[in-house]
Amino acid sequence: MARITASVYTSHIPAVGAAFDLGRTKEDYWKPVFAGYDFDKQWMKTHKPDVIFLVYNDHATAFSLQMIPTFAIMTGPEFNPADEGYGARPVPKVIGDPELASYIASAVIQQDFDLTMVNEIDVDHGLTVPLSCVFGEVKEWPAKIIPFAVNVVQHPVPSGARCLALGRAIGKAIMSYPEDINVHIWGTGGMSHQLQGPRAGLINKEWDNAFLDRLIDDPKGLSQMPNIDYVREAGSEGIELVMWLIARGAMADVVAGGPKPKVAHRFYHVPASNTAVGHLILENAG
Ligand code: DHB
Ligand code: FE
Repeated sequence: MARITASVYTSHIPAVGAAFDLGRTKEDYWKPVFAGYDFDKQWMKTHKPDVIFLVYNDHATAFSLQMIPTFAIMTGPEFNPADEGYGARPVPKVIGDPELASYIASAVIQQDFDLTMVNEIDVDHGLTVPLSCVFGEVKEWPAKIIPFAVNVVQHPVPSGARCLALGRAIGKAIMSYPEDINVHIWGTGGMSHQLQGPRAGLINKEWDNAFLDRLIDDPKGLSQMPNIDYVREAGSEGIELVMWLIARGAMADVVAGGPKPKVAHRFYHVPASNTAVGHLILENAG
């Protein structure tokens, strides 16, 4: 059977992608940001996934006000990096897993979550920047990737409780897949940031760190926090953090009860661009 062995959480800041692509990772400003991901390179050698279920949001790149799916699972065979106005990032294309993605779509829809299925889409910085941070410069991504997009751009966006419950349904679906594969689930976006209006530039270190604590220790309690609290405390784009609850919901303790996951790595740094960088790796016990 398929196993979910770990979840990975990280910000997905476009300027981090640009610094990476332009070879500026050793500059004073960027060095401490990228240092937060050094651990990952070694850890991935011993915890290599076959498939990554990667929760992210599209930033009005592929979707627009014409079409706004709340939850979209990418069931296609491959996805190219999107052109977000400066040309596509020079990173490998994403190889999907249509078989597993369709299986998850079917098992999750049977659990009463309505998903949009997408076979063709270009993936933006929300997906490609986390891959660059975690894997560094590679010729191809070392795993198949199932992109899963959440609407956190245009209100109304889904609640934390719905995201946690959806993660649980995704976890159950993956664990019932009859192939012996190692799956990671990633949650991306955040942490605190606001890109618009009078509070542009807002960062809230205390709140971010409390969020990390609660994500690890009390995901159910954290999932009860209303969306307005994210916006008030972590800024209008801080709402991206609800996506982390999808990844957390797929961990064994939430899916089936039992011990909390082990914190393999925790990192926090401010600022990078306009945003607080947060990064966590949680391993399932056993
Ligand atoms: C920034 C951060 C984001 O998460 C994003 O999607 C766009 C911009 C920023 O820090 O500038
Ligand atoms: Fe974003």
